[in-house]
Amino acid sequence: MISEKTKYALGSVTQIPLGEGRNFRIGDTEIAIFHTRQGIYATQAECPHRRGPLADGLVGGTQVTCPFHAWKFDLKTGEPQMGSCALQTYPVHLTESGDIELTFLGEAARFAS
Ligand code: FES
Repeated sequence: MISEKTKYALGSVTQIPLGEGRNFRIGDTEIAIFHTRQGIYATQAECPHRRGPLADGLVGGTQVTCPFHAWKFDLKTGEPQMGSCALQTYPVHLTESGDIELTFLGEAARFAS
C-alpha cells in the first residue's frame, strides 16, 4: 500500500473539452478527470454499478451521469445522487499554467486493478 502522497502531472487541461471527461492511467489505476465550469475533478474511471465508463457520461454542473444506466454522482464528493454506491475521488487541481496535477493518497492503491 502506498503510504505517502505522490503528485502526477497529467498535462494541459485543454486536452479535456469543457464539460467532458477523459481517462488517465497511473500505473495500474485508471482515473477519470472531468473538466467542468466549476473546476476540475477526479474519480475512479468505472461506475460501481456495472463498470460503465464514467468519462463518457453526461456532465452537468458538478454531476456526472453514467452512460450505461444513468446513475448520477457528485463529482466533488463521489456521493451517489441516484444509485447506491459512492465513487472514489482523488485530489486534483490546476497549476497556474493550466496543467492538471493529481495527488494519489495511500488509499488509492486499494483501487489498483
Ligand atoms: S454501469 Fe453505471 S449505472 Fe450501470
